[in-house]
Amino acid sequence: MGLSGLLSASGADGVAAKPGERFSFVAFGCMPYGKENYPAYERLLKEINRHGPSFTVHCGDTKSGSEPPTDAFMKQVHRWFDSLDGALIYTPGDNEWTDVHRKNNGSQDPLVWLAKVRTEYFSTERSMGRAPIPLVTQRREKGFEKFMENVRWVRGGVVFATVHAVGSNNNRIKTDDRERSGLARESASAEFRERDAANVAWVRGTFAEARATRAPGVALFFQAEPFDAAEKDGRESGFTEFLGAVEQEAKHFEKPVLLVHADDHRYRLEPKVRFPSGEKHDNVTRLGVFGASDIHAVQVTVDPTSKAVFLAGPLLVPGNPLPVLPRSKKEAGKK
Ligand SMILES: [Fe+2]
Repeated sequence: MGLSGLLSASGADGVAAKPGERFSFVAFGCMPYGKENYPAYERLLKEINRHGPSFTVHCGDTKSGSEPPTDAFMKQVHRWFDSLDGALIYTPGDNEWTDVHRKNNGSQDPLVWLAKVRTEYFSTERSMGRAPIPLVTQRREKGFEKFMENVRWVRGGVVFATVHAVGSNNNRIKTDDRERSGLARESASAEFRERDAANVAWVRGTFAEARATRAPGVALFFQAEPFDAAEKDGRESGFTEFLGAVEQEAKHFEKPVLLVHADDHRYRLEPKVRFPSGEKHDNVTRLGVFGASDIHAVQVTVDPTSKAVFLAGPLLVPGNPLPVLPRSKKEAGKK
């Protein structure tokens, strides 16, 4: 970050909304995954309440990819979210809808479950939890009315947003996909294209707001691990447009950008993460949350007046087995 960025981040030329207010948030995802994990998961929720963060974000995957989806389970997830004393914001994962066509995941229609996810968790323009906060949602934007799950909010001048980007290549069907019939491939492709365009617009809109309000930082939350995935899938990656928009906007923004995601079940704090363009940017950090093999969360202290703005680390739950750190890709467990 250049000196001019530092000056505007420190409020020298007037930052909107309570500059200097220091606060924290919690993020987690890819859990609980199976009944055997419910007690540990409930301990985690209690521990979050003990810390009293300004808000908490579940980054998607509320169940494993080998449990069929049910309406009753979605209600249970909603009750867990509402057991948090503060605000809970959620972004959907691939296990909730993208992958439910798989045999071990119920042989269901993904679009039916995507619609159910939207109805269950996104029917109001506010967060879940016992002290919900109002959210700005993409449904207000012409042409993007169905994307009620893309939301943003501001705290201490920092702009926060969820982006509905999911694992399983963001539902972009690869040429070697043998899991779907012709019709199912077409509907998945149409869904991917439409949501991908919405996500790009949402990312651009989020940074436009951050620039207009001279926000000291931006944090984006999404379920997918997009960096390794993009490298693996190359030209068939479903993250090319999304990461391209994030990279371009972050570069232009210059101030700290934190990208928080679930999906690969490994705690990873990686400053200067490499984009598919091959470039790294000093102001962009990726934070991967723990997964179901390590029932813990991450906590981020946000100090809008500091140079880094975001200070992230694990939030470990007493009573739950210690996490494996670092956890290799191989050991990351069932997704
Ligand atoms: Fe997962």
